[in-house]
Amino acid sequence: MRAAVEQGLIGADQPVVGLLDVAGIRAAAAELRAAFDEVVAPGTPVLHAFAVKAAALVPVLRLLADEGIGCEVASPGELALARAAGVHPERIVLDSPAKTHAELLEAVELGIAVNADNPQELARLDALVRPRTGPGSTPPPGPLGLRVNPQVGGGSIGALSTATATSKFGVALLDVGAREWVVRAFTERPWLTRLHAHVGSQGCPLDLMAAGVRAAYELAEEINRAVGRQQIDTLDIGGGLPVNFGSDEVTPGYRDYARLLLATVPGLFDGRYGLVTEFGRSLIAKSGTVLARVEYAKSAGGRPIAVTHAGAQLATRTVFAPESWPLRVAAYDSAGLPKPTGPDGPVPQDVAGPCCFAGDLVAANRPLPRLEAGDLVALLDTGAYYFSNHFAYNSLPRPGIYGFSAEGGEDARVHFAPVRSPQSLDEIVTESGGDHASALAGL
Ligand SMILES: Cc1ncc(COP(=O)(O)O)c(C=O)c1O
Repeated sequence: MRAAVEQGLIGADQPVVGLLDVAGIRAAAAELRAAFDEVVAPGTPVLHAFAVKAAALVPVLRLLADEGIGCEVASPGELALARAAGVHPERIVLDSPAKTHAELLEAVELGIAVNADNPQELARLDALVRPRTGPGSTPPPGPLGLRVNPQVGGGSIGALSTATATSKFGVALLDVGAREWVVRAFTERPWLTRLHAHVGSQGCPLDLMAAGVRAAYELAEEINRAVGRQQIDTLDIGGGLPVNFGSDEVTPGYRDYARLLLATVPGLFDGRYGLVTEFGRSLIAKSGTVLARVEYAKSAGGRPIAVTHAGAQLATRTVFAPESWPLRVAAYDSAGLPKPTGPDGPVPQDVAGPCCFAGDLVAANRPLPRLEAGDLVALLDTGAYYFSNHFAYNSLPRPGIYGFSAEGGEDARVHFAPVRSPQSLDEIVTESGGDHASALAGL
């Protein structure tokens, strides 16, 4: 924080900034690889594909690619980012629930892996794949799969639970006739070689996630028995490892999950199946920090309020669903040094954002050293989803994001590199119809 102040990344003119710990991201990627290397049979093809939605930032995707991590994309925009980062099509998986015909065609032409979401989408793939499967035909598509919803239940955050009875994702496996339909869909399509299940994200316990993977594995076994060969050669087990937002500890870890999977679904790791994972949050949340300036410190009804520049425009989920998405807040002085607690101990106070609505609070009644104008607040563990879930309310600009590294301990010089430039006012005007200023007058 001190280096960010000293090097001018944050101050009166740039009152909010995102910071990413490059070594932390590398370490998380290495830990993910090591955790699964430990449980898979030697030689098993494994693709760890980062869920781009968690941090839709080209330099981050490139850094992860350098660490052996591909991309899971869920929109044409995310695919464009993965390609801009130089991620090879073989290391990209497309998963969105609403793929248009044009998106499917592009994916098939590029040879990226696609997981169809539903029967209608599979029918679209049929039409695209047919001319590519005969002798002398155009290049074959990349690996194609089907997403199933194992309907094993939800976690503590309903909005992120994708394996409930009525979730919008995938083919709902326990619905009447669905399993038989899935088996038939595979027997009729020798080119359909993957099953995909993503049980949910933050809030889903590990045993629920493992139960979903087990259901997908058992279905794959049934299908392979039905067709009499190893037609399904890869299981895509999704992402979803929850992040501990309560302390610095990384818990649960990838090894906890990989070992639980090995115990729950041993057959998945005996070498017959390749593996795709799609972790997002767990790869990057702990490496990110939002740092924001306290513009004013005031009080209302006896409650101290620090009005900062980090609110709903960045911490959208935290502001709108604070019970599900609490964040730790750390207090710093204007020089970026940790702010000591005063003689009376921590003071319960609201940490508010800059948006013009009353609920724009990133923390309510939170005990902290008493914040004053010019101080800084750090929102911890915000590397995932905070830099890509921006909210355009009040036309507040998206902040600049910088990666940092500090080799050599406390006194080392911290080096920053730009990841995303701060959004300019001109960009906001353009994005808001500035090129069409008089368009309505002529109607
Ligand atoms: C299909 C799919 N895969 C992976 C993820 C990433 O989840 P997480 O960031 O919790 O690991 C998501 C999140 O929404 C998803 O929908």
